[in-house]
Amino acid sequence: MEKIVALCRRRGFIFQNSEIYGGQNGFWDYGPLGTELKRNVRDAWYTDMVRSHNELRVPRGAPSSFQMVGLESAIIMHPQVWKCSGHYDLFHDLMVDCRETRARYRLDQVRCRQVTVDGGTVPGQLSQEGAQAVRPGDQAEFETVYVTSTAEDVSGDLTAEALRVFGLKKKYADRLVWKSDVITLDEIPESDYCRVVAPGATRAGTLTAPREFNLMFKTIVGALGSEDDAAFLRPETAQGIFVNFRNVADSTRVRLPFGVAQIGKSFRNEITPRNFTFRSREFEQMEIEFFCHPDQSRAWYAWWRDRRYQWYQDLGISSERLILRDHDASELAHYSVGTADIEYAFPFLEDGEYGELEGVAHRGDFDLRSHMEGRLVRSADGHLEVERDEHGQPRYRGSGKDLSYFDDQTRERFIPHVIEPSAGADRATLAFLCEAYHEDTQPDEHGKPQHRTVMRLHPRLAPITAAVFPLIKKEGMPEKAAAIYGELRAAGLNCQYDQQGAIGRRYRRQDEIGTPFCITVDGHTASDDTVTLRDRDSLDQVRIPAGRVVDEIQDRLRAAGCD
Ligand code: GAP
Repeated sequence: MEKIVALCRRRGFIFQNSEIYGGQNGFWDYGPLGTELKRNVRDAWYTDMVRSHNELRVPRGAPSSFQMVGLESAIIMHPQVWKCSGHYDLFHDLMVDCRETRARYRLDQVRCRQVTVDGGTVPGQLSQEGAQAVRPGDQAEFETVYVTSTAEDVSGDLTAEALRVFGLKKKYADRLVWKSDVITLDEIPESDYCRVVAPGATRAGTLTAPREFNLMFKTIVGALGSEDDAAFLRPETAQGIFVNFRNVADSTRVRLPFGVAQIGKSFRNEITPRNFTFRSREFEQMEIEFFCHPDQSRAWYAWWRDRRYQWYQDLGISSERLILRDHDASELAHYSVGTADIEYAFPFLEDGEYGELEGVAHRGDFDLRSHMEGRLVRSADGHLEVERDEHGQPRYRGSGKDLSYFDDQTRERFIPHVIEPSAGADRATLAFLCEAYHEDTQPDEHGKPQHRTVMRLHPRLAPITAAVFPLIKKEGMPEKAAAIYGELRAAGLNCQYDQQGAIGRRYRRQDEIGTPFCITVDGHTASDDTVTLRDRDSLDQVRIPAGRVVDEIQDRLRAAGCD
């Protein structure tokens, strides 16, 4: 992962936000190449999910044909939206503070393991802090404590932490006696907190009791600045679609089933943003709310789940590192009959662990009803009903607007069910970057082995499609290369022209940023009007007529699925 992060910075994919001022945790900036890559991710999603569907053609395996339309709603919405959606009351994480280090942690992100020391075999190795932490007073036995780490891959980390806590040298690692598996802090009863040594703390028992922390960023709208003017930056784009359901249905000729798609920024004040862009405070979502008849919703759920899983594979993610994980009943939101996560084996995770790329949820009629009637809760008999206060009034009033759908063919009125494939543009981009990263050794133009880093990005995603080089800066080669470069750009392909340095180094520069094709004008070009075309992955070099470069690259792009 460190190599990928370093490459992203070095080659201008992703930078730490406000880096010259020391950075702002949880925020990232996309550099010139990252901007192209992320734009290609968004464009691929929009083309494949929105533009490729129409009401006349049934996609493979789908229950019927359907329409998709786009939407761009504002980031700041009426505060009532978040009250009815449940985000105002329920969108929080549990966190604890360490009184000693002043750090704040999300409960489910602190990994811990119970450990003690085989005391009889460790002669006087305790540091002063260690002695205080685990052997208060003159007790003969070492105490059992929980050592902790916030790393995803904790195996080495927890051992190092245990040695530090007990004040032991590395050579005594075999005297550590582990008393539990690795668990997370939310699995420990609060009564045991007195035995937890927080990350970096010198003694046990410094954690506060868990508290709820709402993840929405608050802001003030208007000049008066009172609490009545408080508003929130949206934590998901989905609500913008639900509150516009009526507008979309009335202003277009869409008929059920149809989907509304939105790409846009979302904001969450994550307690512990981490793992590069994986968990950020400002990020971009690509969400679809697909509205259908309740009787068909299970079939649509299954179709969208499989369609979205396939999409990542079509763009080069190997099925070995991608899983589709159906939530079990205990994980389901109270309104959902099914949710699946599409997860990727990010390199910052332990072997066998996966991180969420996208969630595909069956949301029933929960959202549209909440915005009609007011926030819904599950009643004792399992039905969704409006939450009421002590006076029997709705706790949060809905809009009161009719968000039902009337099918003029069946003469039926109902509240549509919703299937929500919700993806993260930054997480998808990160997964494509991780998947693309390869190192190999290849012979250079003189047959000498050369180590190269190559980003095997799918040609649809690669920031630069082709690079054009003159072999040397004379004999008319730069002029010829510039002409070919101009033709490629005129054909709408994003290209680079490079005449600096040895040809091998220029190839490696392009390999490192994932450029699928390189075209070189050389000594033969002047006599036979041919150039070499080099393929990034196979390293095959073929001579083709200079006049065919654009067609040849377009043919190869089509063969790779870039229509
Ligand atoms: N409307 C449903 C919803 O927002 P979610 O699982 O909370 O569901 C959907 O978010 C997707 O948004 C995630 O699968 C992930 O790709 C992305 N996402 C969520 N929180 C994120 C964060 N803090 N940083 C980057 N991406 C995030």
